[in-house]
Amino acid sequence: MSPMAAPADVALAEAVAAFDTTPAVLDGIAHEFGLQIGRGLAGAGGSLKMLRTFTRQPTGRERGLVVVVDWGGTKGRAGIVELAGAGAARVVTEEVFTFSSQDKVGAIAPVFDVVATAVGRIVADRPAAAYPLAFVYSFPARLERIDRAVALALTKGWSVAGLEGQDVAALLSAALERRGLTRVTVTAVANDTVATLMLQSYRARATGGRPADIGLILGTGTNQAADLGPDGIRNLESGNFDGVAPVATRYDVALDRELLDPKPGAQRLEKMVSGRYLGELLRRVVCDLGQRTVQFRGVAGSAFATPFAVDSEHLSRIATDRTAGLDQVGALLRTFGLASSRSEREGVRELSAAIVRRSARLVAATLLGTLQVIDPALADRRTVAVDGSLWGGYPGFAGLVRGAFIDLVGAERADRIELAFVKDSTSIGAAVIAAVAASQGSERCSSG
Ligand code: GLC
Repeated sequence: MSPMAAPADVALAEAVAAFDTTPAVLDGIAHEFGLQIGRGLAGAGGSLKMLRTFTRQPTGRERGLVVVVDWGGTKGRAGIVELAGAGAARVVTEEVFTFSSQDKVGAIAPVFDVVATAVGRIVADRPAAAYPLAFVYSFPARLERIDRAVALALTKGWSVAGLEGQDVAALLSAALERRGLTRVTVTAVANDTVATLMLQSYRARATGGRPADIGLILGTGTNQAADLGPDGIRNLESGNFDGVAPVATRYDVALDRELLDPKPGAQRLEKMVSGRYLGELLRRVVCDLGQRTVQFRGVAGSAFATPFAVDSEHLSRIATDRTAGLDQVGALLRTFGLASSRSEREGVRELSAAIVRRSARLVAATLLGTLQVIDPALADRRTVAVDGSLWGGYPGFAGLVRGAFIDLVGAERADRIELAFVKDSTSIGAAVIAAVAASQGSERCSSG
């Protein structure tokens, strides 16, 4: 060991412990989250935007054929969904399209042209029919009607020049028109969290069940939508929640400060919780240990040193390694050009687990923050509809969230919270929103 190096085991233990979250601190975060919901609803500021959605819970009987578009990350989808009523639905056809890295930071028209081209392919062999289109725009947007959504600052590493302040429904309509697709009409714009909530409700209501209270996405980004009764279904943009200082490590602080998009101070919860950032946090801790200890010495010269090289799929692979020597972790590190000792591999696994566990516990605290607004005593059964690659892909994530619920409100009340995983909810959820919009008709301009 060089004289300057910190003892590796102590440094590792400290780094792992930095991601601990006590019930008392999480309680405080849940409370602050609830307060900020109130502030947002009252228009009194705070980090939760509480955006209106201009939709309402479905009956479960909605029917129709809807073109759906999903844009919220590098991969988008276009498809046709058929709602058959009675909670039944099927994806008639669907295709995935991919944005280039240039699209993510470029001009407006190319992005919407990618989307409109995909829609064109989807409806190409159905020349006669006219379609309503539901546009799932999974970024912050201020809706003024169900079919008018003014873009706010982008998230998840996107920054399309000049998009802020523009109506994304009108931009998509214009792109469809450029392709001669005038038989496709944008009738609804919604956030992905709202689509998740609505799909769960559509299915549940058809069988006499309760509608969902919350729609949660935990994938590349994170966000909640919630049915707040008289205040309607709101898109919280909870990834922007800023009451996370009590659990922020110096790695979180540095990540927040050094990123340009989203800018420092923005999306603070998302930067500690969602798939886009968890691997990056692990990478930063390992690089730091490589500098300060005798472990991970090769990291500086390896591909591990590249920002955002580690993603949440890597974390899932680390968690599933059951071999005694952590061979899969070793193989993963080798793909980054990093040789490792057994104790380094164990360190990586411990750190990764600590980072994901904190994510789950923060998600649990913020869900409780919302539930405390809806039902302060948690007297009734509540349903959280969830979708997203981190929730669906990381082994045992739901169990970690449930464990935190039990820590925070006790087993009895925790039991009243159903966590319903609604896989691939976006397309069908979007179709439900379009069908509800069609039935709302003249109510379009009512509040929601
Ligand atoms: C980001 C977006 C939000 C979206 C979430 C999940 O937080 O700002 O609108 O719901 O990612 O995709």
